[in-house]
Amino acid sequence: MLEQIIILDFGSQYTQVIARRVRERNVYSQILRYDVSAGEIAKLAPKGIILSGGPSSVYAQGAPLPDKGIFSLGIPVLGICYGVQLLAQFLGGKVEKGLRREYGKGTLQVKDTSCPLFANLPGTLQVWNSHGDKLTKLPRDFKSVAVTENSEFASIENRKQKFFGLQFHPEVAHTPLGKEIIANFVHNICGCGKNWTMRSYIAQAVDEIRAQVGKENIILGLSGGVDSSVAAALLHKAIGDQLTCIFVNNGVLRAREAETVQDVFGKHFHIKLKYVDASKRFLTKLRGVTDPERKRKIIGKEFIEVFNDAVTELRKGKKNAGAGGQYKFLAQGTLYPDVIESVPIAGNPAALIKSHHNVGGLPKKMKFALVEPLKYLFKDEVRQLGLELGLPKEIVFRQPFPGPGLAVRILGEVTPSRCEILRNADAIVVEEMKSSGLYYKIWQSFAVLLPVRSVGVMGDERTYDYTIAIRAVESQDGMTADWVKLPYELLEKLASRIINEVKGVNRCVFDITSKPPGTIEWE
Ligand code: XMP
Repeated sequence: MLEQIIILDFGSQYTQVIARRVRERNVYSQILRYDVSAGEIAKLAPKGIILSGGPSSVYAQGAPLPDKGIFSLGIPVLGICYGVQLLAQFLGGKVEKGLRREYGKGTLQVKDTSCPLFANLPGTLQVWNSHGDKLTKLPRDFKSVAVTENSEFASIENRKQKFFGLQFHPEVAHTPLGKEIIANFVHNICGCGKNWTMRSYIAQAVDEIRAQVGKENIILGLSGGVDSSVAAALLHKAIGDQLTCIFVNNGVLRAREAETVQDVFGKHFHIKLKYVDASKRFLTKLRGVTDPERKRKIIGKEFIEVFNDAVTELRKGKKNAGAGGQYKFLAQGTLYPDVIESVPIAGNPAALIKSHHNVGGLPKKMKFALVEPLKYLFKDEVRQLGLELGLPKEIVFRQPFPGPGLAVRILGEVTPSRCEILRNADAIVVEEMKSSGLYYKIWQSFAVLLPVRSVGVMGDERTYDYTIAIRAVESQDGMTADWVKLPYELLEKLASRIINEVKGVNRCVFDITSKPPGTIEWE
C-alpha cells in the first residue's frame, strides 16, 4: 500500500496547501473531512495525521471536531493552528480567547532544539500566524518546545506518543522554512519514504485505467489545455487506440490552436483524433450577441450538441465492432481540488474557487461511465506528469485560457473579422512574452479587443480603428490577481508591433487593474 498522510480538513483556506507541501516531499497525502471516523482512517493505515487550521473556535458550539478515536490509533499527529488547539483540548489542555489576535509575521524561538520537528533548522525562524484563540494550559505529558512574542506555546509536543502541534502556519510561503518542518514531520517522525513520484504514478494509473476499461473504447474531449492534454497522453499510454479524442474548433480559438493540437496529438503521439470544425456554426449563433453571459451560454450549449453529434458519428462507425465498439467510457481531466469534499465553513474560499472554474462541461445525462485519471492530482503534479509523458513544454506550461475562448475577450459582438484581429494581436502578445522570458513566469498575458473605434494617423492617412488592451497578471489560483509591471521596452514593442502588423487596430492600452476589484478577463 502506498504510504500516505491523512489531512483532516477543518475548513482552513490552506488545507490544500498542506496537502501539496506533503506531496512535494514525495509523500502521498489525502484530504478528508474532519468528521471521518477513526475506523475509516485506520483502514487506510496512514503513516501520520495532520489536523488543519480552521476559522472556528474549538470551544464554540457546533465547532467541527474530529473523532476522539484518532488519538488512540498509535499514529503520529500534527495539529496546525486550530488543529493544535483541538489536540490540546481533546487531551486535557485549555484553549481560551486571546487578548488580541495574533496575525501576521512573528519570530519563533525554538527552546528545545532536540524536538524532531525542528531538526536541522535554526533556533530562530520567521513564521506566519493567524489566530485569535490561545492555548493557556498544556495537556498532561506535553511540553512547549518553541515560543513567539505572543505565545509561550507556539509549538508543543508529546514526543513519546508522537503528538506535535504548531500554533503558526508552516504551509504558507510567509513561513519560509515551514516546508522543512513539514518534511521533518513526514520523514523523521512518521517515517515516510519518498515513493510518491509522477513516474511511479504513471505505472499505477496505467494499471488502474486498464482494469477499469478492459477492452472498451473511450472518448475524451480534448481542449488543448493542460488537463485534457495530459489526460490524453496518459490514457493513450494505457490503452492506445481504444482512446479517441474529440477536438472541437468553436471558431473562437487562438491562432494556430487547432493545428497545434492536430500536430502534437495526431502526428506526434499518434492518438486517434476526431477534429470537428464547427467554427461557422458557433459564429452564426453568436451573431448579434453582445451580452457576455449569453455568449457563454450559447457556446456551452453548442459545444454539447456538436460533441454529442461527434459521439453519435463515432458510435455509428463502430456499430458492428462488437464488444467495446460503443464507446462506453468518457474520460475527463478532473483534478483533485474538484473532488475534495469541501468543508462548508464560513470563510473558506475553496468552495468558491471550484464553482467558478467549473463553467461549462458536459451534461450528466450523456450516457457514459466516467474515467478520471487525474483526479488524485494537483495542478502542479499534472504538469510534472505531462513532462514525464513527453508532452512539450508549450502545452504543459501554457497559461489558462477560458472555455468560451476569444468570445469573452472581444467586447460586444463577436464577428469573424474581429476574431481575426484579436487572434493576430494575441499571437504577437504571446510571441513577445515568450521571447522576453516572461510568458512562463506569470499567470496570464493576453490581448483584448475593445469595440470602440478612435481616430489615428498612419502615414498620411487618417484611420478609424479598434483598440487592443494588453492584460498581464500574476496570480496563484485566479481568485485574486495583481497586474504585472511589464518593462516599458516590452510594452513599446507590443504596441508598435500590434499597431503596425494587425490591420484594423490603431491604438493599444495597458490594463493596470488588479483583481479585486477587476476581473482577469474583460468580458
Ligand atoms: P476572471 O475573469 O473571473 O477569471 O477573473 C479568473 C480565471 O478564470 C479563467 N476563466 C475561465 N476558465 N472557463 C474556464 O475554463 C471559463 O468560462 C472561464 N472564465 C474565466 C480566466 O482566464 C482566469 O484565469
